Amino acid sequence: MLAGLARTPRSVPPKFFYDAAGSALFDRICELPEYYPTRTELALLRARAGEIAACLGADAEIVEFGAGSSRKVRVLLEAMQRPRSFLPIDISAEHLHAAADALRADHPGLDVRPIAADFSRAIALPARHAQATRRVGFFPGSSIGNFSPDEAIAFLRRARETIDHDGCGAGLLIGVDRVKEPARLQAAYNDAAGVTAAFNLNLLVRANRELGANFALDGFAHHAYYEPRLQRVEMHLVSRRAQQVRVCGHVFDFAEGETLHTENSHKFTVDGFRALAQRAGWQPRAVWCDDQQLFSIHWLGLPG
Ligand code: AVJ
Repeated sequence: MLAGLARTPRSVPPKFFYDAAGSALFDRICELPEYYPTRTELALLRARAGEIAACLGADAEIVEFGAGSSRKVRVLLEAMQRPRSFLPIDISAEHLHAAADALRADHPGLDVRPIAADFSRAIALPARHAQATRRVGFFPGSSIGNFSPDEAIAFLRRARETIDHDGCGAGLLIGVDRVKEPARLQAAYNDAAGVTAAFNLNLLVRANRELGANFALDGFAHHAYYEPRLQRVEMHLVSRRAQQVRVCGHVFDFAEGETLHTENSHKFTVDGFRALAQRAGWQPRAVWCDDQQLFSIHWLGLPG
């Protein structure tokens, strides 16, 4: 976080959003009328659960990257044949363990093994469950969009190695938000109730608490917009005035209008994402889209 504040332009990776309060705010974003991705992806998973479960196969071990509240995997678990184990990976440990407990209660036969880790780095998984014959990855929500294209390729390569490290990898099911009319994106990241703004500003609340920083919360404004040239929504915190902020004994001078870049959310065309996946060594197989062409769910297989 400190390194990002010192950079020009200043930027902090979006993973820092997800402390307990940030994860709770993100769950509220998912319920907003303007934020279409979550409900569109859930509806698509439900509508195509049979076909998707057939791709995932029987006796699978599911590895979810950035599991959050684990709502989406429930749809898969209902449709799959004898899912054997579930390994949710999330950076927010409290959130992760609460979701894992709830899932165990509803699926007593399922071996749930939460892993509190940052999925943007390499993760060593425990040995495959004794009764699982294949391992599948699940990466919903278009979280892939937080990465730059190069980072996305690096992530997809690493995910392939993680899932297939013992040669039993079967594929990756990944939710990807599509390029669309900018007004729709603008609304989704600038909701009327101000929840996205609170989510963005929570980064400063967290820095004040955990790093002893003294960010004035009324000194920064939420700013989110679609950048068509880069096919991404950018979120920033804009300094409302010239001000000094202390973080861990370091002093940072913000000019009026200077921004702290907090998130990129890349959008993809269906073909663009398939090409990206291929460059990362995956074989694009099925893809499912909603009628409004808002969101896509890709099933990527291992070549050969
Ligand atoms: C969790 C990264 C997919 O980019 O849409 C929602 C996060 N940021 N509103 C997204 C987010 C602002 C979300 N992802």
